[in-house]
Amino acid sequence: MIRIAAVGDVHVDKDVLGRYRPALDQLPGVADALLIAGDLTRHGTVDEAKCMAEEFGGLAVPVVVVLGNHDHQSDQQSQVTDVLRDAGLTVLEGEGTVLTINGHRLGIAGAKGFGGGFAGACASSFGEREMKNFVGTSEAAAEKLGAALRGLEGCDALVALTHYAPVPETLTGEPLEIYPFLGSYLLGQAIDSAPTALALHGHAHHGSERGRTPGGVPVRNVAHPVIKQAYNVYQLLSEDVDAGLVSV
Ligand SMILES: [Fe+2]
Repeated sequence: MIRIAAVGDVHVDKDVLGRYRPALDQLPGVADALLIAGDLTRHGTVDEAKCMAEEFGGLAVPVVVVLGNHDHQSDQQSQVTDVLRDAGLTVLEGEGTVLTINGHRLGIAGAKGFGGGFAGACASSFGEREMKNFVGTSEAAAEKLGAALRGLEGCDALVALTHYAPVPETLTGEPLEIYPFLGSYLLGQAIDSAPTALALHGHAHHGSERGRTPGGVPVRNVAHPVIKQAYNVYQLLSEDVDAGLVSV
């Protein structure tokens, strides 16, 4: 079995320092890796990234993250990425990484993703150049995620890590009007294009934890305001993906 701790939307700045750390220091006892589903900072500044590095760096388990839309706010995503990588975090954007855990190969494909909406209520590539650019960004984000997942060969378990949502079920609680800005069904299709065991995302602070792709892959919205604790724990190579109450 592989145990994964996951959270998203931690939005770290100076005032958040120390909030997560006591629970993070317990990680080796409850999970084998920590995955963070984007929105690591509030406004994507280098100073905030340093706070994120301080709070989530130097842990006793591997930490794999994707960026979120907030991490792009200051157009400093490459500097933010550098700070996080210097602190030992693995930052994925359209790439995969493999962790060896308890003798198993865990493949993680990560990408921020993008909006666009869901079947029956999604943006279409028609009309103005701006709309075509928007939909083109959704398509490119999903293609990157799918390629990264399919490129992870020889793994015992595959996890997809995004910021934006791949299904509408985990948005339940958010206003319907903003669904197209919270995720895209194309991400769900990308997840279903590989034998993915679990898909994790954040972004939808008022959404719901549990959903499933059309292909049957369990989806979990791990945004901090949704899970209401430092991280939830999920199990792979196990009958039930939910580890039950692991209170931290
Ligand atoms: Fe977000």
